[in-house]
Amino acid sequence: MRNNNPKIYVTQPSLASLDDFSELLSSPWRSGVLTHNGPLVQQLENDLCIKLNLNNFTSVVNGTMALQLAIKALQLKGQIITTPFSWVATVSSIKWENCKPIFCDIDPETLNIDVNKIESLITDDTVAIMPVHVFGNPCDIIGIEEIAKRHKLPVIYDAAHAVGSTFNGNSILNYGDISATSLHATKIFNCGEGGGCVTNSELLRDKIRRLRFFGHDDEKNIVEDGLNGKMTEIHAALGILNLKEFDSVLAWREHKYKLYLSRLAQNEKLSFQKLTPGTNYSYFPVIFDEEATLLKVVKVLNDNNVFPRRYFYPSLNTLTNIVDAQDTPVSEDIAKRILCLPLYTNLSDSDIDRISTLINTI
Ligand SMILES: Cc1ncc(COP(=O)(O)O)c(C=O)c1O
Repeated sequence: MRNNNPKIYVTQPSLASLDDFSELLSSPWRSGVLTHNGPLVQQLENDLCIKLNLNNFTSVVNGTMALQLAIKALQLKGQIITTPFSWVATVSSIKWENCKPIFCDIDPETLNIDVNKIESLITDDTVAIMPVHVFGNPCDIIGIEEIAKRHKLPVIYDAAHAVGSTFNGNSILNYGDISATSLHATKIFNCGEGGGCVTNSELLRDKIRRLRFFGHDDEKNIVEDGLNGKMTEIHAALGILNLKEFDSVLAWREHKYKLYLSRLAQNEKLSFQKLTPGTNYSYFPVIFDEEATLLKVVKVLNDNNVFPRRYFYPSLNTLTNIVDAQDTPVSEDIAKRILCLPLYTNLSDSDIDRISTLINTI
């Protein structure tokens, strides 16, 4: 029998007030400037640099484009070592830039790339390492940097989940040759759709800025083989307003994450991602003892109008219609048993209690 509770999805975007949004939109409505690095895009980039203490932030249309532009800016052609435990965009960005993803298995606890397994995958064709801060959980930055230096390889972090995550007190976006993030509606900080690149190299920053704008330089000469990656003023306006509430969004996520954990920690069939310092608590993944338990829980939750998400599933190395088959048993195993429970700012504590009780009862 269907339950009458309102539907609870895995996430809901954090949204500034609609009145503030329409007020901010009055300036592009007046000026007619909707895109092309307009004043709101410049303001968003500047606000993000101040808020997160970044040298620069180059906004783009989405996180997939940010990853592609990072690869393009570094002029990579060859094999890129990455993780199979990610969203498919990590792989599609690599493939669209005519590179080949090589999968390195993950650490079963942090769910990030297993640093001890990277070096054995490096060949003469390796051109970069692209780890993901999975669910906003910082990777082993030091370990990855050591390997990258030893083999003279650039590092692109897929930081799609990681706005608000830190390493040694700094924004995690400051690490790697380039960090690429997503500002999609499902992310902890969102512009509806959006993304961005952060780099400490001025040369790379300028190149990414040209690449996102058809390859134009400041004089409008086409000096790069670019494309159109520009964010619009409308998306930037939403970002500017959402950023004002970001501190409270971060605090709420942490509170709700810890509430779930306190309700579920005693459940013997569950385990949890080992959080590394500086995580942003942006998702609440639970790992079941076996896939059958997960499927049973999904059914009961769905019957009660709760819709969690199997994220990341399947492990990307198994998508043999788009990648060559490669063996990463830890990722394959975890991908079958992991489920992200609803987690967003307006999710009430009583909903978390109800969801946890349903899981514990099963
Ligand atoms: C790990 C990861 N990388 C990249 C992306 C792509 O970001 P976008 O959806 O903004 O293109 C996502 C999106 O969900 C993601 O989860």
